[in-house]
Amino acid sequence: MDDLYREHILDHYAHPRNHGTIEGADATAEGMNPLCGDELTVDLRIDAGRIADIKFHGRGCAISQAATSMLTELVEGRTVDEVAALTKDDLLAELGIPLSPVRLKCALLGLGTLRVALNRHSGTPLPEGWSGMDEVDWR
Ligand code: FES
Repeated sequence: MDDLYREHILDHYAHPRNHGTIEGADATAEGMNPLCGDELTVDLRIDAGRIADIKFHGRGCAISQAATSMLTELVEGRTVDEVAALTKDDLLAELGIPLSPVRLKCALLGLGTLRVALNRHSGTPLPEGWSGMDEVDWR
């Protein structure tokens, strides 16, 4: 079973969905994983309270890139409030394989960055009490 998840992760890494930028995005945030210095930018177009478009780009390992790619598919078309309520477990369920604490930071980089973008745009709450997120240096 693990193999299927690994293949899925590698597919997203090799062919990231929604990779790129959005001209004139409604919301943008950059996040960095201080453990490795990798950086990610998330752009959003928000229309009538929904994620109408999402794009990401940046530098990062296979887990961070694949997790963010999966995240973009998970949130497109959903309401801002639904997305702001996503938990790390929702995303980790998509990844489907157990992760070490270091890899956990990689996997959650995109979600944390997205939550910051939503917070800036709509004032939705930032993640609270997420192990692995507190050391991330949000800008
Ligand atoms: Fe940098 Fe994973 S090693 S995000």
